[in-house]
Amino acid sequence: MKVLIVGSGGREHAIAWKTAQNAAVEKVYCAPGNGGTAAENKCENINITDIKELLTFAKENSIDLTIVGPEVPLIDGIVDEFKKAGLKIFGPSAEAAMLEGSKAYSKEFMKKYGIKTAAYEVFEDKDGALAYLKGCDYPIVIKADGLAAGKGVVICENYNHAEETIIEFMVEDIFKGSGKKVVIEEFLVGPEASILSITDGETIILPFISAKDHKQIYDGGKGPNTGGMGVISPNPFCTAEVLEAFDKEIMKPTLEGIKAEGLDYTGIIFFGIMITKKGPYLLEYNVRMGDPETQAVLPLMESDLVELVSAALDKKLSSFDLQWHQGASCCVVATSEGYPGKYKTGFEIKGIDKANRIFASGFVQKDGVFQTSGGRVLCTQALGATLEDARAKAYEDLKNVDFQGIYYRKDIGVI
Ligand code: AMP
Ligand code: GLY
Repeated sequence: MKVLIVGSGGREHAIAWKTAQNAAVEKVYCAPGNGGTAAENKCENINITDIKELLTFAKENSIDLTIVGPEVPLIDGIVDEFKKAGLKIFGPSAEAAMLEGSKAYSKEFMKKYGIKTAAYEVFEDKDGALAYLKGCDYPIVIKADGLAAGKGVVICENYNHAEETIIEFMVEDIFKGSGKKVVIEEFLVGPEASILSITDGETIILPFISAKDHKQIYDGGKGPNTGGMGVISPNPFCTAEVLEAFDKEIMKPTLEGIKAEGLDYTGIIFFGIMITKKGPYLLEYNVRMGDPETQAVLPLMESDLVELVSAALDKKLSSFDLQWHQGASCCVVATSEGYPGKYKTGFEIKGIDKANRIFASGFVQKDGVFQTSGGRVLCTQALGATLEDARAKAYEDLKNVDFQGIYYRKDIGVI
């Protein structure tokens, strides 16, 4: 079997690593991949990102299965294009990917299907939004409708802050169209959880083990949001009671909604939830695996990923016995100095071969030397009998690695 993996982050490295473990897989192409996938067993990087070129590559190389990592190609319709050409691909159609691509669409979907979420209003005109904001309780949450590279959500403490945000989003148009429409939403409080799941969009939705991201750059959850600084799995706040409420009030009605809307969805649904005093609320859908959630969750998956994905594509997910290892997983992300703001790249990374398990996010290999090439550079990941054990090992491993300006949080997994 030949598998094509689309994307270039730590998530795609973890997917490639897990895919390569299937004995029937002879080759894993990573498009474009990174310095980690280049060195992974059975893997080869190919420097293509354009959907049409990927399609040509898949046809010419008889690719048996394509797995899409990031949201952008999904929203741009890669699944529709591949399916039209008769190729096997795992992910939602462009229409279904709007669950991540438009916050207004996803909130409307949640409301229509009785999925527990924060109260909200949608605005397309600045004056309407400002008039509404004058009568709100604060804090309040303002969200750009479209994709905004993780920067489209602002928690506003007072009216002035809200007004500034509306001007930036709707008038100054800082997200180039994505903030022309906004969702204004009730502020919720509680620990967050990331729950990935897999569905065939028709018969079943199967949750993965829960995870907890650490979004802010500094220890104690301080500072600006990042793509994610580290993950533990399972999430200690996801008690049996929380998971039961999640199943009943969020996950099952989501599948009902997908069926009722006739969405073509064979793929991953990532639920971003907040566990409030009134139980779990859905903050957002992502139509893909999380990064760095995937780097912590896939090593805990005992079942084979290619078999799981194939079962979903063959509509046989109901009889798939998804198994997880006992214990816990932890990954800790190391970043370039300055991230999530401006940062420099091109620094040599030492000690990669001494670490037990590394997933690459932003590094390349040039003339046998590993060099930083992104804001998030890599993560170490470890399994342990307990969370404490897993986090101790992931941090121990990180001591082996060094590059100029290396930064990481010291409190990943501290509850
Ligand atoms: P989202 O992209 O919708 O997940 O939002 C990004 C982050 O903003 C979340 O992970 C939360 O930390 C925060 N957030 C989003 N919606 C709310 C809300 N209604 N109340 C409080 N915090 C929120
Ligand atoms: N780690 C959050 C995300 O992948 O969106």
